[in-house]
Amino acid sequence: MANQQIKKPRGTIDYYGEEEKVFQGLRNVLLAEADKYGCDFVELPMFEENQLFHRSVGESSDIVQKETFDLAQKGDKDYTLRPEFTASVSRMVIENKLYTSPDMPLRLSYFGPVFRYERPQTGRLRQFNQFGVEFLDQKVDLGTTLDAFLLSLRSAEKVLGHKVRAKINFLGSFESRETYKKELYNFFAPKIDNMCDDCKRRLETNPLRILDCKVIADQEIAKGSPRVTDFLNEEDKKEFENIKNALTSLGIDFEVDSELVRGLDYYTGLVWELYDTVNLTLGAIGGGGKYASLMAQIGGPDFEGIGFSLGVERLIIALTPERRTELIADPSLDYFIIDFKRDGKANYFADKLRADGKKVSIASYGRAMGGAMKMADRKGAKKVLILEEDGRYQVKNMADRNQVEVKEEDVISSLEA
Ligand code: HAM
Repeated sequence: MANQQIKKPRGTIDYYGEEEKVFQGLRNVLLAEADKYGCDFVELPMFEENQLFHRSVGESSDIVQKETFDLAQKGDKDYTLRPEFTASVSRMVIENKLYTSPDMPLRLSYFGPVFRYERPQTGRLRQFNQFGVEFLDQKVDLGTTLDAFLLSLRSAEKVLGHKVRAKINFLGSFESRETYKKELYNFFAPKIDNMCDDCKRRLETNPLRILDCKVIADQEIAKGSPRVTDFLNEEDKKEFENIKNALTSLGIDFEVDSELVRGLDYYTGLVWELYDTVNLTLGAIGGGGKYASLMAQIGGPDFEGIGFSLGVERLIIALTPERRTELIADPSLDYFIIDFKRDGKANYFADKLRADGKKVSIASYGRAMGGAMKMADRKGAKKVLILEEDGRYQVKNMADRNQVEVKEEDVISSLEA
């Protein structure tokens, strides 16, 4: 009996062929945008101690409650695959004492896979990629706030080739949040019997999370709930006003959404989400905000941060066919070799050409001439080198289909001519 075929895990993607080229094109565009803002790229472990996310993303968040991929215990530590980057970046800054740098703010960018055990659907995966930045400083000022926000907007617009919609809100300090949570509790408690099981749990663990619920009936009930901005202290209110005024002077369109609370517990201050203006059902293509206490919570100094992450797979879904084509780097081969001599000489020429920076591929030995030529066309090869069984060499120019016989010592020069 044949062995049963093994499939990829649900909610994951195999990137290959054109899709992989789109992915790389998009990565290049996003990292080039971060470069323009003076960011340094960081590469971090894909797993961390569980505690890191419990203490930052938050015990009451859906991510920590039910979405982490916890690894089987090895040694005496509990590890989990990272569900996001912000906590890892803060951990790295503390551990390597980057906060002692004289050059503030730190501007760190990242790109890579994150893991969340969610119910897969279009644009919602269990392994997906995030691009993002974290700006860290003793105190995050208005200039740093605006730059982080602008980079999120500009990088998404650059990828998509059109404007994106920004929703913003302001969450304030943890203290003012506690008062707000009590008010939310009082609002939802009489209605909770008619809400989903997750919301029943959220009422007790963190009523703020009810505002994140994706169930339409629950969202209806949440309309009319108290607004977080009504519970801000004077300083926070002023900061929010300053940010809104500055964005307006910069000519940035934004929408204040008083129900926007984000799914992670570490935010204190400005929060925002980005949406595609064409693909309205896709959900947020990115989100971010300011976090004033995260570093202290995970054992670091009193340092603040602001950042955002974009969902790479959601950006790919939102690409128009034209943008897809533009993002694909020129994949064409320079040369294709058809080898009937089969003694390794083909690899010798390929090696020389590649040393000159050329893209070269070789047909498998089993391929007949006709099939190999078609493959050369499909791969966009400009010229084809044929090594005949009797030792003769032919070079075919694929543009005019002209084929000439060349001497061994002239093979390279005639290909490169
Ligand atoms: P987040 O909103 O959880 O924020 O994720 C950022 C983006 O990742 C979302 O807007 C969405 O585009 C994408 N995303 C989230 N979940 C999925 C999924 N299951 N499948 C596909 N894409 C998804 C954060 O992760 C924060 N760390 C952002 C941040 C950085 N805040 C401050 N600094």
